[in-house]
Amino acid sequence: MSTQVIRPARTFQGSLVVPGDKSISHRYAMLAGLAEGTSRLSNFSTGADPHSSLACMEALGAKVVKTGSGASSVIEMTGVGGAFRQPAQPLDCGNSGSTMRMLAGLIAAHPHTFTLIGDHSLTMRPMERIRKPLSQMGANIDLTDGHAPMTIHGRPLHAIDFTTPIPSAQVKTAVLFAGLQAEGTTSLTESIRTRDHTEHALKAFGATLTRSSSGSSEQPAKLSIVGGQRLKAVDATVPGDISSAAFFLCAALLFPDTNLVLDAIGMNPTRAALLDVITALGGRIKVLTVEERHGELIGSIQVNREPPKTGGQPFTISGALAAQVIDELPVLAAIAPYTNGGLIIRDAQELRVKESDRIALVAQNLRAMGAQVSELRDGLEIPGGQHLHGASIDSGTDHRIAMAFSIAALRAQGDTEIRGAESASISFPEFFSSLDSLAQR
Ligand code: S3P
Repeated sequence: MSTQVIRPARTFQGSLVVPGDKSISHRYAMLAGLAEGTSRLSNFSTGADPHSSLACMEALGAKVVKTGSGASSVIEMTGVGGAFRQPAQPLDCGNSGSTMRMLAGLIAAHPHTFTLIGDHSLTMRPMERIRKPLSQMGANIDLTDGHAPMTIHGRPLHAIDFTTPIPSAQVKTAVLFAGLQAEGTTSLTESIRTRDHTEHALKAFGATLTRSSSGSSEQPAKLSIVGGQRLKAVDATVPGDISSAAFFLCAALLFPDTNLVLDAIGMNPTRAALLDVITALGGRIKVLTVEERHGELIGSIQVNREPPKTGGQPFTISGALAAQVIDELPVLAAIAPYTNGGLIIRDAQELRVKESDRIALVAQNLRAMGAQVSELRDGLEIPGGQHLHGASIDSGTDHRIAMAFSIAALRAQGDTEIRGAESASISFPEFFSSLDSLAQR
């Protein structure tokens, strides 16, 4: 386990292109693997998680060729044309919940036996949530006490009409991927609208998916997909990952004279609520450019900080907003003590079953830095206007905890040690070098 020491910074300035979005990379990898023909995926995520998805697709018969590096990297994937092969070994999903849950939906209709395994953290995460709808569709899935290892005995599936009980884009995706290959028309209604990359990706690969016209973020519309559709390869560029950009957006809130430009980041409206939260916490965001590619918005933004005020009410993240910024909550919480009014997070109990119990670890590490924080069943209450000191941080080998506290460390008194810092490479291997280039000491 490696330790990274983070020194406080004076300010935070510069411009950056963050690597490709993790969520979109998973979906493009899986659909390119199933499709007919050779897809070219530019700016594919450099994180270990989407590479677990790529490796699983190779094990299922897709051909993967990687060319170039950094922003000019391209993944060329030749898909199996609708028929996965029997993998020779268990499908190793590594640390990636997205890989395991979405892949289960993608492969359940194929006539083979698949075993899905993962690392210690993934083996602790709930899988019943995908077994339930997929079983209703006729899938035969064995779990180990509700968890991985998972064995799927592939067989024909039939359509269902499903309402997701928890806000989860991974569950939605598993059902839509299975529905694409089931007999009949599968319909899905979400409890709260989650990220819609799957809907855009399916369309990009040539599938038809309909969405009933009504719907709001609190009461989403019904999605329907007709089974038996064939996918065609695409040439696509993955937008920069807004969840990776979030660390630097939060860092920009910590200093009076920041100026940060982020280029080519994903600004899909189901992810971009983060920008509203950054604004509410004192950021000033200017959208410099925006364009659409395969249904995804990609833009450049400039971020400064409003002149600091004193006092102020805490900002509350709850309900649909909590689901929309679920991956950014650790870093928002880690910098909350430095904000004027502080932060209240509610309805975020899903954080307890991510790569770690993120509510408990955030509270523990904020306290280690001298902050006052209340841990709630479904969130956190963090007063603003606090001063923190450097500490030894337990990342729990959770990438987002390691990176979140590296940002909190920039404004602390004294150095901070991040234990298990290598976990950042799960989503953002370049994180520490990018941080060094932007933090002025
Ligand atoms: C993701 C959905 C979210 C998120 C995860 C990625 C996705 O998980 O936390 O990092 O790509 O669909 P849930 O679907 O479990 O909420």
